[in-house]
Amino acid sequence: MRKVNKRSDGYCLGIESTADDFSVGITTFEGEILANVISAYMSPEGGIHPREAARHHAEVANTVIEEAFKKAGIKTKDLSLIAFSQGPGLGPCLRTGATVARALAAYLHIPLVGVNHCVAHIEIGKLKTGAEDPVTLYVSGGNTIVAAFDSGRYRVFGETLDIALGNCLDVFAREAGLRQKTGEPFGAVVEKLAKSGKKFVSLPYTVKGMDMSFSGLLTTAVNMLKKGENKLEDVCYSLQETVFSMVTEVTERALAHTEKKEVLLTGGVAANKRLQSMVKSIAEEHDALFCVVPAQFAVDNGAMIAWTGVLAFTHGVKTSIEESFVRLRWRLEEVEIPWIKKANLY
Ligand code: ATP
Ligand code: FE2
Repeated sequence: MRKVNKRSDGYCLGIESTADDFSVGITTFEGEILANVISAYMSPEGGIHPREAARHHAEVANTVIEEAFKKAGIKTKDLSLIAFSQGPGLGPCLRTGATVARALAAYLHIPLVGVNHCVAHIEIGKLKTGAEDPVTLYVSGGNTIVAAFDSGRYRVFGETLDIALGNCLDVFAREAGLRQKTGEPFGAVVEKLAKSGKKFVSLPYTVKGMDMSFSGLLTTAVNMLKKGENKLEDVCYSLQETVFSMVTEVTERALAHTEKKEVLLTGGVAANKRLQSMVKSIAEEHDALFCVVPAQFAVDNGAMIAWTGVLAFTHGVKTSIEESFVRLRWRLEEVEIPWIKKANLY
C-alpha cells in the first residue's frame, strides 16, 4: 500500500463515465494522483452501445471504487470532495456515474462538483506535463477540438463539423475488417499498418476556416479499399497523413494567432507517434514547447475528473444535488475557469 501524505488539505474522488470506460481516480488537493483505476467496456460487435456500456458501469462501480481506495491507501472518511463527469457524453453512461457520485457525496456528507469532460482532458495534460497556458489539440473518439484559454474560458478555435478524428480511424478500421488484440485501440492498429505504407494516395482534405470535416474522407478511404486498387497499408498511411495534417494545420494557425508558448496534445489519439511528430514540428517552428499527455492519462480516466474537481472546488465551484443533472452536449467554452487568472489576449 502506498504511503500517503496525511498532511494533504484533502482528497478528491473523481468518477468518469462519459462513454465506454468507467474509471475512478483519487487525488490530493495538491495534485498528487494516488489512484486511477479504469474498467473499459468492449462491445462484442465493436462501436459503443450506450445502454450496454451503462450496464457495465453499474456492474463494475463497486469493485472499481474499492480498488481505487486500496491503491490510494485512504478510507472513505478521508475524502473531502466527490467529482464526476457531468458531460458531454452519452446519457445512460453519464447518468450511471452521476448516480454513484450523488450517492457517495450524500452518504459521506461532502460536497459534489460536476466536471466538464473536455476541461478535464486539458487540465490533466497541464498537470502531467507542466504546461501552463497551452494551445491544446484534444483528439479522441468523440472529440476533435483546438482550444486555448482567453478571458476566463477555454475558447474553441477549431473543431470537427461532423465525426471525431478517433471515430474516423475506428470506423475505417472496422470497415476494413481489421482485428484488434484485447485492449488494443483501433487507432493503434491503423498506426502499425501505416508504418509499412509507402504510396500516398490523395484523399479529401477538408478544412473550412478553422473547422474540419472527416466523414467524406472516411467514405472515400473505405470505398478505395473495397475497390481493391490500393494496398491496405498505403490507405492507412494516406489516411493518417491526411487527417493528422488537417488537425496540425488548425493547431498551427491557433498557435500563430495566440502566440502561446506551449502546445498540448491530449485525448486518446495523442498516443499516435506520427501525430506527435507532426504537432511537435509545428510547435518547434513557432518556438513553442511541445507537451504530450502520458498514455495512461490520455484516455478517459477518473484522475482527470478528480483533479479538475479540486481546481473547481478550491475556486468556489460546487454542484448541488438539484444542479447535478447530466449535460449531454455541454460545450467546452460554456465553462468558466476561475482558477486561471491571467492571459487576456485582447
Ligand atoms: P472522449 O469521450 O474524450 O471523446 P473516448 O471515449 O473516445 O474519449 P479516448 O480513450 O480518449 O476515449 O480515445 C479513444 C480513441 O483514441 C479511439 O478512437 C482510439 O482508436 C484512439 N487511439 C488510441 N490509440 C491510438 C493510436 N495509437 N493512434 C491513433 N488513435 C488512437
Ligand atoms: Fe475523453
